[in-house]
Amino acid sequence: MSEMLEKARKYEREESAKIEKENRPVFHFSNPVGWMNDPNGFSEYQGEHHLFFQYYPYATHWDSMHWGHAKSTDFIKWEYLPAALAPDCDFDNFGAFSGSAVEDNGKQILIYTGVEEKTLDSGEKCVRQNQCIAVGDGVDYEKFEKNPVVTAAMLPKGSSMEDFRDPKIWKEDGRYYMVAGSRSSDGSGQIALFYADRLDVWEFAGILDRSENRYGKMWECPDFYPVDGKQILMISPQEMEAEGLEFHNGNNTAFLIGTYDKEKLQFTREEIQSVDYGLDFYAPQTMQSEDGRRIMIGWMQSWDNPMYSDTQRWSGMMTIPRELSLRNGRICQRPVRELDRYRKNPLTYKEVCIEKETGLEGIEGRSVDLELILKGNEYGKFKMKLAADEMRYSEIIYDREDKTLTFDRTHSGFKKDTISTRSMRVESKNNELSLRILVDRYSVEIFANEGEQAMTSLIYTPAGASKIYFTSNGKAYMDVTKYEIEVEV
Ligand code: FRU
Repeated sequence: MSEMLEKARKYEREESAKIEKENRPVFHFSNPVGWMNDPNGFSEYQGEHHLFFQYYPYATHWDSMHWGHAKSTDFIKWEYLPAALAPDCDFDNFGAFSGSAVEDNGKQILIYTGVEEKTLDSGEKCVRQNQCIAVGDGVDYEKFEKNPVVTAAMLPKGSSMEDFRDPKIWKEDGRYYMVAGSRSSDGSGQIALFYADRLDVWEFAGILDRSENRYGKMWECPDFYPVDGKQILMISPQEMEAEGLEFHNGNNTAFLIGTYDKEKLQFTREEIQSVDYGLDFYAPQTMQSEDGRRIMIGWMQSWDNPMYSDTQRWSGMMTIPRELSLRNGRICQRPVRELDRYRKNPLTYKEVCIEKETGLEGIEGRSVDLELILKGNEYGKFKMKLAADEMRYSEIIYDREDKTLTFDRTHSGFKKDTISTRSMRVESKNNELSLRILVDRYSVEIFANEGEQAMTSLIYTPAGASKIYFTSNGKAYMDVTKYEIEVEV
C-alpha cells in the first residue's frame, strides 16, 4: 500500500471517530471526514452493497481525489471501510476521479478516471483523463501496472483529451462493457461505449448519444441500464440551460429514455426527463440488487450553488437510495423498501381540514418519513413548514391552480445568500396529490405522486428546529402519517 493511502486511512480512522453521531444525518450516508462528492462503484460484491465515493479526507472542500468506501446489507445502515484508492501513481497524480465497480470471478474490479497532470515537450502543462483499473477483495485494491487501459486517443477525432471521464462498467454475456463521458469536437457532451474480453484490452464501440449543444456541455457520470423494457442512458450534463421548470442548477441530470440494439450497440433516444427538481442533486449512479431492482443513489449537493455547514468536519451526503420503475413513460423513483424497516411510531390523522396555520400534536421531527394526501378543490395554495422554530422554517408550497410544487429554504437559517427555491410541475389526480417527504436533519427529499417527480434539497437549519405546520388559503383536506426513523449504530 502506498504511503499516501496509508496516511488517508489513518487520518480518516482517527478523525471520523471524533465526530459525534448527533452531528450526522440519521438515515442518509455521510462521509467519514472531509469532503465527498459523487457516488462511485455502487454495486454488489459478495452479497453486500458497496458504495465508494469521491473523497478528500483532509478538508471540507474538493481537492486531490481519493476513493472513500463503505458497505451495507440494506442500503440504510452503512459501515465505513478504509479508503480504497489514493492518487498515488503517475497516471492518476491529479486525482482518482469517478468510476464504477463490478464483481468478477470473486474479485472486485474498480474502473475509474486517472487524471494525470503532465508537462509537454513544449513546457506547457496539460491534464489528461484516461480510464484505469484496480482489482481487489472488497477492502484492498491493486492498480494495474498497464494503466490507463482506455485512453482518449481511442475516441473519435476531435474529442477532448481533457474531458473524458467517469466510466461505468458492467458485464454481459461474458463481455465487459463501459460507458464514459466525453466532449466531442463541437464542444458538447457525448457518451462513448467500449467493450473488452480482457480487462486490459478495450475496443471503442461507438458513440451512444450526444448533446450537440442542446443539453449542456460536457456530459459527466453516465450510466446505462434497462428499466421495465426501456433502456436508460443517465447523464449529468454541465453548463445546462434551464427550460421552464426543467434542468436548473447549472449541472443537472437527465434520464435519456430509449431503446438499445445490442447487436449493433446502438441507442435510440425517445424521451428526455429530469431526474430531480431540487436544489441539491447530482452525479447519480445505479446498481442492480440481487433481487433485480434497479437502485439509484445521488450526491446531495450542487456545484454552483453549494450549501455547506460551516461547523461540521464532514461535507457530503448521499440521497436515499431509490428504486426505479417505468410508469406511463416516466421513470419513477421511490425510497428503497428497506427504509420501511426503520419506520417507528406511526401517527396518522385523517381528513384534517387545513385553513389557518395548524400544527398537529406529534407531527414533528427532524428524522421523519411523512406521507401526505391532499384533497379537495376549495383552496388555491397549500403550504407546509418543516424544520421550524420561531424564526426558521423550510416551506413546501402546492399551488393547485398552477399545478406546481415549490420548495423554499429562504428561512432555513442559512447565513449566506444562496438560491433557495425550486418548483416542479405536479398533476393532482381527481383533486388528490400524494407526497412522501423524507426529512433527515439536513436534507428534505420530496416524492410526488408515488415517485413521478422527486425534489432533493439541503437545509442546514439548527437541529432543534423540528416543528411542522400546515396552512391553506381555503379549505384543504389532508391525510397525514408520520413515522420516526431510527437507525442504531
Ligand atoms: C462530477 C465530477 C466528475 C468527476 C468528479 C471529480 O461531479 O466532476 O465528472 O469525475 O466530479 O471529483
